[in-house]
Amino acid sequence: MLSNNIDKYYVISSMAIVFLLLQFVACTKSKNEITIASNENIASLGKRLFLDATLSNPSGQSCASCHAAQTGFTDPLHNIVSPGITSGLFGNRNAPTIAYTIYVPKLQYSTSDSSYIGGLFLDGRVNSLEDQAQKPFLNPLEMGNVDAAMVISKLRQSPNYDYYKSIYGEVTDVNTAFSNIAAAIAAFERTDEVNPCTSKFDYYLNGKAPLTASELNGMRLFSDTTRAMCANCHLLTPDAKSGKILFTDFSYANDGVPKNEYNPFYHIPTSFNPLGGNYIDPGLGAIINDSDFYGTFRTPTLRNVALTAPYFHNGVFGTLEQVVHFYNTRDVPGSGFATAEYTPTIDHLETGNQHLTEQEEADIVAFMKTLTDGYQP
Ligand code: HEC
Ligand code: HEC
Repeated sequence: MLSNNIDKYYVISSMAIVFLLLQFVACTKSKNEITIASNENIASLGKRLFLDATLSNPSGQSCASCHAAQTGFTDPLHNIVSPGITSGLFGNRNAPTIAYTIYVPKLQYSTSDSSYIGGLFLDGRVNSLEDQAQKPFLNPLEMGNVDAAMVISKLRQSPNYDYYKSIYGEVTDVNTAFSNIAAAIAAFERTDEVNPCTSKFDYYLNGKAPLTASELNGMRLFSDTTRAMCANCHLLTPDAKSGKILFTDFSYANDGVPKNEYNPFYHIPTSFNPLGGNYIDPGLGAIINDSDFYGTFRTPTLRNVALTAPYFHNGVFGTLEQVVHFYNTRDVPGSGFATAEYTPTIDHLETGNQHLTEQEEADIVAFMKTLTDGYQP
């Protein structure tokens, strides 16, 4: 409170000075700061749209219905494949994480790997988060809108429309508005919130948390190039571009994953899946139209993998223990694993018979469990 002793003139003139100073600060705010501020707004709009369940047809499904933060941005109910908003419809693949997808390069042939790398979706068919973010809205097996105009008419009714308008203004053109939605969602997908690198493993690297003997042994085995060989594809070294350890070289491989008999995709109407139970997921091969790559999928990151069961493109395994046991013994006679969905392109050199003991399998699992973000030391 102001003391009565203070001269009124003094108060008024100092308020004027503060006001002028504030004006000065506002005017000299650098262009960069202004861009950063609006990028933040765009990303926060993106987050709201990512969570907005009024944008599907009928309403009730958002991106987060299949990519929820609490399950490492995958299906919160751990479905083999997530149900679409239209009852009885399902996609063909297990919902992957959206975390760390900002680092996925464009689909390209890498001469150093003699293989393809990159591209979004498990088969690399889309090259940017912006292009990707439009697809689920219009996918009849997902959010079910008929066209962009339908999405935008829902946007106009959405509780987030005011916030949208505060950034992009009133919608005048459907395609521009649809691109804006995708750009905002992509901006959210690029935030630290989605890509935090705050796992126990990261703390360990910074000298801020110790790993147990089992976790350390798991890490050693993981990058052992003579037996487990996991790091041949799930790199344990920093990605050249981002400098982050992402547990993927973005390459494609066929891990010989067995068909998942319980995949509800086999039973959706034949207008969506003409092959029914005989469907085989062609992966990258269909995108580049090359049978040498049938049945190959992009190597996923393993960050947050403890939260993202079930595993592989068809969700065939429910636990990490099963996954590692599968890698270790797939090709060992009598191991009991069903035959692969697609056999000709299986990588038998790096996977399938790793000569790991039971304890070593357990150690590799223990190591993968250190990759969950949000670790509290
Ligand atoms: C019904 C479940 C479902 C909904 C809803 C959904 N997704 Fe997905 N998402 C998937 C599945 C399944 C895949 C993998 C599909 C494939 O590879 O063909 C995927 C793939 C992705 C990928 C690529 C991940 C990678 O590693 O390449 C991104 C990014 C993504 N979704 C973002 C979104 C956004 C943004 C929305 C909302 C606009 C959304 N998803 C809505 C199930 C869903
Ligand atoms: C030849 C490259 C390669 C090697 C070696 C490899 N992986 Fe993979 N990994 C992949 C690919 C590709 C996929 C996805 C395959 C699919 O969905 O059909 C995958 C998927 C996984 C998944 C499932 C992730 C998810 O989100 O569904 C886990 C867990 C995993 N690998 C762990 C390991 C471990 C542990 C090792 C070592 C014992 C290993 N990988 C060795 C390429 C490889």
